[in-house]
Amino acid sequence: MEDRLVIFDTTLRDGEQAPGIALTPDEKVVIAHQLAKLKVDVMEAGFAASSPGDFEAVSKIAAGVRGPVIASLARAHPDDIDKAYDALKVADAFRIHVFMSTSRIHMEKMLRMTPEEVLKASIEGVTRARRYTDDVEFSPQDATRTDHDFLIEVCKAAVAAGATTINIPDTVGYATPTDFVDLMKTMFREVKGDRDDVTMSVHCHNDLGLAVANSLSSIAAGARQIEGAINGIGERAGNTSIEEIIMAIKTRQDVFGVEIGADTTQITDTSRLVSRLTGYPVQYNKAVVGRNAFAHESGIHQHGVLRDKQTYEIMDAASVGQTAAQIILGKHSGRAGFADALSKLEISLEDDAFARAFEKFKQLADRKVQIGEDEIRAIVDEESDHFVGDVVLVGLHVSGGNDVTPTATATLNIGGTEHRFTGEGDGMVHAAFAAIRSGFGSDARLVDYRVVPVTSGADAMAEINVVIRIDEITYSGRALNTDVVEGSAEAFVEALNKSRA
Ligand code: KIV
Ligand code: ZN
Repeated sequence: MEDRLVIFDTTLRDGEQAPGIALTPDEKVVIAHQLAKLKVDVMEAGFAASSPGDFEAVSKIAAGVRGPVIASLARAHPDDIDKAYDALKVADAFRIHVFMSTSRIHMEKMLRMTPEEVLKASIEGVTRARRYTDDVEFSPQDATRTDHDFLIEVCKAAVAAGATTINIPDTVGYATPTDFVDLMKTMFREVKGDRDDVTMSVHCHNDLGLAVANSLSSIAAGARQIEGAINGIGERAGNTSIEEIIMAIKTRQDVFGVEIGADTTQITDTSRLVSRLTGYPVQYNKAVVGRNAFAHESGIHQHGVLRDKQTYEIMDAASVGQTAAQIILGKHSGRAGFADALSKLEISLEDDAFARAFEKFKQLADRKVQIGEDEIRAIVDEESDHFVGDVVLVGLHVSGGNDVTPTATATLNIGGTEHRFTGEGDGMVHAAFAAIRSGFGSDARLVDYRVVPVTSGADAMAEINVVIRIDEITYSGRALNTDVVEGSAEAFVEALNKSRA
């Protein structure tokens, strides 16, 4: 029988908990479809009881995404478990993931519960989840700082109550690979034993940069599920990077010897999509998906690779879905050239979307000499996930500098009529935001603002991400522009439009 490692993706739950990420339910659905193409085995779509938005996202994913098992996180509380079930019930296959903190510090300081109460609540939580499904995961939160005897007791009780996956979270990223091997061996022996119906899992955070190493080391100790997120996003320093796990298992079959079902050629597209929708850039030297992961700079390396790629490459760029198309367009490129570039990049657009993307391409080509693959992808992406609201930015004029306070005039089309609004600020972007804020009559607070160059060079296009908060709800906006002030204003308008939807 095949020895299979389950890939459990939590990009949409733990990944989305990273500061400054505010995905709408529809954006989560888009990512979920891509994760299904990547063929992850289980996808944690959210934490249904945590907010109406999360409930909606989990329900929509359960209703529309096929392939992976869809999971929702739930505290060991009856209401959470019932909400998880309500959101998941339309899925072909679903899992309820019950968690409960078990370390002394969490029990005393956060939960204010005794170990006996924690044990009882864990058993009740799993038992309630089993009423709805026979696929129940239990996680003792902060397991790596939990007293071992208590950890074993709670996990054994969870199995007796019907949990089929026991997940060991290194919630604060404290463990080392040797700690993990020891802990997993103990848990395997004491909790799983010879039960074929129970899978041991790990969930590692990256506070010491050890998440992937800890996850991989636990395979030898019997773990057959690894949890993580695309691009390693998540709380604080993030989670285990799913794409690194997939490629480590594929590349070092000699070491790990377990089968996985993932389609590696979907890795690059998945990473780009998650980066774009979350607004979290991927570091250039990130393993597997970084821009430089397959780039060779030194002469000696280039020379070697030209003779035989394997001199310096242990993975083939094509195996992770990186295309090698050489595409350069400019302001003289017409529809046919643009269409040809899209087809080389295997991008197909409906007529309307094509027309809008081409229009954006022409606007940018007027300002920029050469437009390459990354920029074309960015144009298409911006077009496909642009949120259309009832307020449109039709003009922006900003003046000021050095000793003069920057002043902006924004012309907004609101429900078909144009209005002008002015604002002042410490800088050009601040002034533009002030003018737009007054047009929307909003006191939105800016909580995150990022400008990421899509390419290098003085005329580079930038992707601008804006996250705002209104009444404790966060909304994000994105724009692509060679002019950072204009792009920032467009992104701000998109976020404000979302808040009115
Ligand atoms: O890090 C953690 O402990 C978690 C659990 C809820 C699984 O995310
Ligand atoms: Zn976590």
